Amino acid sequence: MEAKAGNERQVKVQVNHLTKKFGDLLVLDDISFDVEKGDLLCVVGPTGCGKTTFLNSLTKIYDITSGEILLDSHPVDPKKDHIAYIFQGNSTMPWLTVEQNVSFGLDIKHVPQEKKRELVDKYLEIVGLTKYRKYYPKQLSASMLQRVSIARAFATEPELLLMDEPYGQLDIELRFKLEDELIRLWEMTGTTVIFITHNIEEAVYLGEHIMVLTNKPTTVKQTLQNDLPRPRDIAAPEFVRLREEVTELIKWW
Ligand SMILES: Nc1ncnc2c1ncn2[C@@H]1O[C@H](COP(=O)(O)OP(=O)(O)OP(=O)(O)O)[C@@H](O)[C@H]1O
Ligand SMILES: [Mg+2]
Repeated sequence: MEAKAGNERQVKVQVNHLTKKFGDLLVLDDISFDVEKGDLLCVVGPTGCGKTTFLNSLTKIYDITSGEILLDSHPVDPKKDHIAYIFQGNSTMPWLTVEQNVSFGLDIKHVPQEKKRELVDKYLEIVGLTKYRKYYPKQLSASMLQRVSIARAFATEPELLLMDEPYGQLDIELRFKLEDELIRLWEMTGTTVIFITHNIEEAVYLGEHIMVLTNKPTTVKQTLQNDLPRPRDIAAPEFVRLREEVTELIKWW
C-alpha cells in the first residue's frame, strides 16, 4: 500500500485523516491510507461500516466532515479526473439500450462520435454483449447487467475504477467468470481499482492488497499484501492460508 522510497511505486490515491459523520453518527473515523497506481485493492468490512460512504466521499457525492482525498497528489475532482464508479446493485439505466448504457459515460465526457463508437464496440465485444447491443436491461440476466456496468465503466478508460460489491447478487459460476474478466481488463489497462466486497474468497482471489475495516466508528484494521501468482487457485494451501488470515481479522469485528 505505501509507496516505498527508492522504487518505482507511485501513489494514486491518498486518503488523509478522512472523517465522515452523518449528524451525530461517526462513520469514518480519521482514516488514512494510500492506494498505489495500478493496484487492485479489495476492501472488506462489516455491513454499515462505511464502505459505500467512502466511495461516495471520494466521488464527492457526499461532503466529507474533515480530512482530504488526493488523486495524483491533487484534491480529487470527479468532474475532471477520470473516475468510473460501479454502484452497489444494478446501475444500468432501464430506458437505454445496452449500447446506449455503455456509451453513457462517454456522452457525458463529450467524446467524439467516431471514438465513442469504437470504444463501445470494443468493450461490448470484451464482455461478450455485442449480440445484445440493442436489448434493454429488462431483457437481460443479472450477470449480463453487471457486464453492461463493467463495459460502461471500462469504456471511459478510467484512471481509477471504483466497484461497490458488484458481484454480490450473482451465483458462484458467474461470479468467477466476471472476476476473471475484471482481472483481464485490469491487466490490459493498468487502471487502479478499488473493489469492495463482503466475500473473503473474492478479496483473496482478486486483490493485490486487502484492506480490512473495523466496525463503526470505522478505522483500518489491517492491510495485507497478496503476492499469490495469477491465475490464483482457490484450493492452493497458500490461498487457503491467506483466506484464513483475513477471516481471523474479520472474526474480531
Ligand atoms: N446519506 C446518509 N445519511 C445518513 N446516514 C447514512 C447515509 N449514508 C449512509 N449512512 C449511514 O452510514 C453508515 C455507513 O453506511 P454505508 O452504506 O457506507 O455502509 P456499507 O459499509 O457500505 O454497508 P454495506 O456493506 O451494507 O453496503 C450506516 O450506518 C448508514 O446508515
Ligand atoms: Mg455499501
